Amino acid sequence: MATIAPTAPTPQGIDPALVIDFNYYNDKRYERAGGIHEAIIGLLEKAPDVFWSTELGGYWVIQGYESIVDAAARTDLFTSSNMALPPREVRASEEKFLPLNMDPPNHAQFRAPLNQAFTPSQMHKRIDQIRELAVDLIEAIVPRGEVDFFAEVTEKLPVLIFIDLMGLDRADFKPYRALAKAAVASSDTEVRSEALMDAVRLLSAQIANRRAAPCDDLISRLLELEIDGQPVTDAQLLGYCKLLFFAGLDTVANAMTFAMRYLATDQALQQRLRDEPEKIPHAMEELLRRHGVAPVVRQVTKDEAWRGFNLRAGDMVLLNYPGANIDERVFDHAQEVDIDRERINHIVFGSGVHRCVGRHLARIEMVVLLEEVMRRLPTFRIAPGARISMTGGSVLSIDALPLVWDAA
Ligand code: HEM
Repeated sequence: MATIAPTAPTPQGIDPALVIDFNYYNDKRYERAGGIHEAIIGLLEKAPDVFWSTELGGYWVIQGYESIVDAAARTDLFTSSNMALPPREVRASEEKFLPLNMDPPNHAQFRAPLNQAFTPSQMHKRIDQIRELAVDLIEAIVPRGEVDFFAEVTEKLPVLIFIDLMGLDRADFKPYRALAKAAVASSDTEVRSEALMDAVRLLSAQIANRRAAPCDDLISRLLELEIDGQPVTDAQLLGYCKLLFFAGLDTVANAMTFAMRYLATDQALQQRLRDEPEKIPHAMEELLRRHGVAPVVRQVTKDEAWRGFNLRAGDMVLLNYPGANIDERVFDHAQEVDIDRERINHIVFGSGVHRCVGRHLARIEMVVLLEEVMRRLPTFRIAPGARISMTGGSVLSIDALPLVWDAA
């Protein structure tokens, strides 16, 4: 079985004080610190704003808020065309994830059609369907008093909604989830590329079906796109569908699970949200800020001394968004969940031109979940003795969330 690339020697020109071993898939600090975000807090305290990790073939890690915003804006220096860690050669003929792998100025024309499909008002039309499903899932577990909340609720809610949005089949929930998980969280390069190939096969078949018989779903709507005045090709459609598939199948489920895990440890906050449900949308932003789930990768395009760091063309870079959002220089008492915080200018959904297309949908789903949990579930806690296991990678994830409450 192929594994992650061996530890790489530090290139010349990098200050040894900037060298730290950090493997963003499964770093040893995650378990030691008691969680991925806790490990990231440790790194923010001990490591420089920008450091060089010798793991995964060697890569820069940018963790400070200001530095990440700057890097995300410098698309001339940090390209999105190669986002693989460990790095690998991207062939010119290789199908891109659209619009993610495009840089300005080309990015805008590929992004515009998605902006239209994912507007706040388009997403808001789905709120009743989201609420109905949330209510069903929560009502089904209330009498049980003890469940894996991830398996029963936070994994199902956003993934089933996404399956409906794309016009996929709910019966394939399990294989879709397995593919998404392998593709974003496996540290094994072969497992990741096999999952990607399986997803390509599956989505190509869906595209062919919709070409033959369009329906009322996102894939069918994407068929009508024009890019540069030309009808969208099947290869371009696949580029969109691949990205939506991986972006939609894992992110919200994990963001919800981290939020629920935190709430299970803070009964006073639970009570407050039950008493003051109007605070839930703001509380959701704060829970998201404290528990960002999506670091992203870039590649350096040219040699440059950027903010005093000697970057070389071809270097890989991790923009560690979850770290930026707990940067004490930007958020007072950043490690605490404080729903009375006035400004929550987090960048959990990214910064710059690639800011998340699905953020309006994600926010609606998270607010509805919290509203229905607070309305229907008695005070809940982590099951006694439970060890919560987490995985890093391009979506930080929790494998199971055993919760208990006093069933009526
Ligand atoms: C809590 C949930 C989510 C989080 C934290 C999140 C986070 C992010 C981040 C950080 C980026 C920037 C990527 C970069 O700069 O390279 C991004 C981009 C993107 N996200 Fe999300 N995402 C979430 C949910 C979703 C959902 C539900 C969808 C679609 C159904 C989605 C679709 C996309 C797309 C298409 C892009 C690429 C935008 C572009 O390249 O212009 N995301 N997301």
